Amino acid sequence: MAGTSTTERGAWNSKLGFILAAAGSAVGLGNIWAFPTKVATEGGAAYIVVYLISTFLIGFPVMVAELAIGRKSGKNPVGAFKALSSNKFFPFVGLWGVICGVMILSFYTVIAGWAFGFAFEEIFYYFGWVDAANWLTDTGNGPKNAIIASVFMLGTIKIITGGISDGIERATKFMMPLLIGIIVIMIGYVLTQPGASEGVREYLLPDFSKINANLIFSAMGQAFFSLSLGMGALITYGSYLNKKENIPQAAAFVTLADVGIAFLAGLLIIPAMYVAKNAGIDIFVGDELASSTDLVFQILPALFHSIGGAIGLLLGVVFFLLLSIAALTSTISLLEVPVSFVIDEYEVPRKKAAWGVGLGVLSVSIVVAFYPVLIGYFDYIFNNLGLPIGGLLTSIFVAFVWKTDSAITEMEFGFAGIRQTLFAKVWPVFIYVIAPVAILYNIISNFL
Ligand code: TRP
Repeated sequence: MAGTSTTERGAWNSKLGFILAAAGSAVGLGNIWAFPTKVATEGGAAYIVVYLISTFLIGFPVMVAELAIGRKSGKNPVGAFKALSSNKFFPFVGLWGVICGVMILSFYTVIAGWAFGFAFEEIFYYFGWVDAANWLTDTGNGPKNAIIASVFMLGTIKIITGGISDGIERATKFMMPLLIGIIVIMIGYVLTQPGASEGVREYLLPDFSKINANLIFSAMGQAFFSLSLGMGALITYGSYLNKKENIPQAAAFVTLADVGIAFLAGLLIIPAMYVAKNAGIDIFVGDELASSTDLVFQILPALFHSIGGAIGLLLGVVFFLLLSIAALTSTISLLEVPVSFVIDEYEVPRKKAAWGVGLGVLSVSIVVAFYPVLIGYFDYIFNNLGLPIGGLLTSIFVAFVWKTDSAITEMEFGFAGIRQTLFAKVWPVFIYVIAPVAILYNIISNFL
């Protein structure tokens, strides 16, 4: 970035780079760890149906809104709400987003650290270093959790200090295609193993009697989390987006990539559960899964160990590295939000902001590392509740303060004929009515 000041904001180099970075933000532990687990424990294919409806009817329209806010303002979430209206309340919505990002990141790195540790666990297991392997599999071990979460956070900070095109874009451009390739190879392997077809049936045939208010609330929260919505991550990523790009189209790509990878991860992991069961690995207590972390962090290692030999080792290492990579492209986006806030609002140079904020978040992570029970509380407050509330207020902002018409004017850059399309007529209805009403209704019915 020659000839620019230290507070230069940067921009995406290419359209593909932006889409891969935004898809990299979306695709993470949410897709590969949380989604299959929730499908398995909260209603099988019926859960998927509600998740898909939430994604397309609520998530996608809100994503378009966030990207339009970001590109129009060219700012972090707090700065963006300030720039687009004189209303004094909405910058606090941006600030709430920054806080949610910091808190989600603090526990996300601990789970990412588990995944990263398991890649090495597979190696230690293979060589018969049982003590070292067991040390890594103990998700309740505070010092171990803290060490690996720190390594993970330092990697994230390092990439963020590189800026937009040289840091985030370059890293994700290489990691995303690799991730998809590896998942597809593993699905090919699992589906040819005995027992897999039972899992495929469980995954794809919905039992609609399982749908209730809790399932809907959980699936909606999952949709927001998985798309990285509701806390301004896509306002921030949109702020680096070129005026030539077509916002609804980019949002559609990102949404489809996110759903596609969640679907593939489920198609890998749910059948793998049944393959493991078929191989005599005990994963069910009665009809229920033993526990939610068990799915990825116990069943899969057991499966890899039962395969054994070099193939078991290879699959295990590759899978957990892949999960770590997916998590890394997500932690990058979670950290970029508070960092861009500090850069824009306090005119701090990027390097300083990245280290300052990153190490601050790491101190919270270390607390979580020692008290993993916090994960459940943080997840509920900042993810299940925080993100839909952020999405609700973002929709209200675009509908009643900034106005959907101004958003569409912004989208005309990169999509000249947008006013003549069905999208321009339908999208405002989702922002005025469908998204806010559905989110509010789901939050309230979850409390009742
Ligand atoms: N979407 C990521 C996942 O599925 C997590 C994530 C990254 C996120 N950035 C975010 C969630 C911003 C909410 C907001 O794992």
